[in-house]
Amino acid sequence: MSDAARLKEDAARAALAHVEGGMRLGLGSGSTSEAFVRVLAEQVREGLEIVGVPTSERTARLCRETGVPLTTLDETPELDLAIDGTDEVDPALRLIKGGGGALLREKIVAAASARMIVIADASKQVETLGAFPLPIEVNGFGLVATYLAIERAAGLLGLSGGLTLRKTGEEPFFTDGGHLIIDASFGRIPDPEALSAALYAVPGVVEHGLFLGLATSVVLASDTGIRVLER
Ligand code: 5RP
Repeated sequence: MSDAARLKEDAARAALAHVEGGMRLGLGSGSTSEAFVRVLAEQVREGLEIVGVPTSERTARLCRETGVPLTTLDETPELDLAIDGTDEVDPALRLIKGGGGALLREKIVAAASARMIVIADASKQVETLGAFPLPIEVNGFGLVATYLAIERAAGLLGLSGGLTLRKTGEEPFFTDGGHLIIDASFGRIPDPEALSAALYAVPGVVEHGLFLGLATSVVLASDTGIRVLER
């Protein structure tokens, strides 16, 4: 196992300590969340009874392969705990997520959960959000108009930078919901709340990757061990 994979598994195992029998779990997306699904599956095989709501088709597939019982948010609209990875976390536990393109379902699931534990290796910790390009999920209709509106909205906050349509090879990347993703390289985001409100005001923006006030704790794994940040 590579060092990076080992740190992801360390964070996943630390989060597993917070899972109890009978819990309704939100299951995140991305490689760290997949490490969590794998360690959760071990416990399920040992008799742990939980149900999970997956935040992506990919996570759902992994759950089916490893035997983690699934439900839907429609059947189980209130969850006890969401466990998910992140692309960045700041000292106030504000996150940038969506590197894997699952931000919409991840945010819906996090908001439906009483608690959200974020698992990551310590390299994801930053003083100020924004080195990682902010994923913005948009409707395909009127894409250029939406680009321009995002540019204007960010510009009013003094933010500028490249907006890039996410692609897989030559083709646009489509989310599980059939939307597109614009990755916004604004650089430092000094006021994530203001940017969040400005983006929500743009018609065509379906969701963005700023997760504010959702994470209740963050488990960071490094070579020196596990550190937990609490809100
Ligand atoms: C997917 C996400 C992921 O949680 C985020 O990209 C982190 O991924 P990884 O654990 O592979 O570093 O937000 O939409």
